[in-house]
Amino acid sequence: MFSASPDSAAATTAVSLGCGRAVWAKLSPAVADLPAVAGAAFGAGAEAVTLVNTMPAMVIDIDSRRPVLGAGGGGLSGAPLHPIAVRAVWDCREVLGPVPIVASGGVATAEDAVEMLLAGASAVQVGTASFRDPRSISKILRDLRKWCDRHGVARVSELTGAAHG
Ligand SMILES: Cc1cc2nc3c(=O)[nH]c(=O)nc-3n(C[C@H](O)[C@H](O)[C@H](O)COP(=O)(O)O)c2cc1C
Repeated sequence: MFSASPDSAAATTAVSLGCGRAVWAKLSPAVADLPAVAGAAFGAGAEAVTLVNTMPAMVIDIDSRRPVLGAGGGGLSGAPLHPIAVRAVWDCREVLGPVPIVASGGVATAEDAVEMLLAGASAVQVGTASFRDPRSISKILRDLRKWCDRHGVARVSELTGAAHG
């Protein structure tokens, strides 16, 4: 809810700066204008934005006719979130230029990570895949090195935003 609008993102970022540490604003993809929200966080002093948090979602048990999760809805993560996250990173890079973006959403392979970097991310997080396989992050890193070697990429920073032409 802190990232529901540019105003709330700016206010939350400004208050968070009081902790005296660098602030990264973790933003929801479920907003009408994500670049505006991200821009407001940067404008209020965020060092980076993390794109994206989970997408509001729900599963209903058709036998009991009740939501599967006790609280009703939950947050969608993992593979179904990946293209939503790529689009979020792309849109913010396109509108805001080369700002620090940490990508999060369905990264399970080195190729997923490369896609995020090409869309505009400077760094990539792995959540759900690491719950399924705690070794996934070291595998992704190993495969990312191999991918970079195969494609003549000396530093992953060369990939950041490269899909924008
Ligand atoms: C079980 C679970 C708990 C999570 N808890 C938090 C949280 O406390 N704060 C937060 O900002 N994001 C939280 N997330 C969101 C993740 O950090 C991440 O942004 C999201 O799941 C997308 O990445 P992934 O597909 O790699 O998991 C949680 C995700 C899951 C699956």
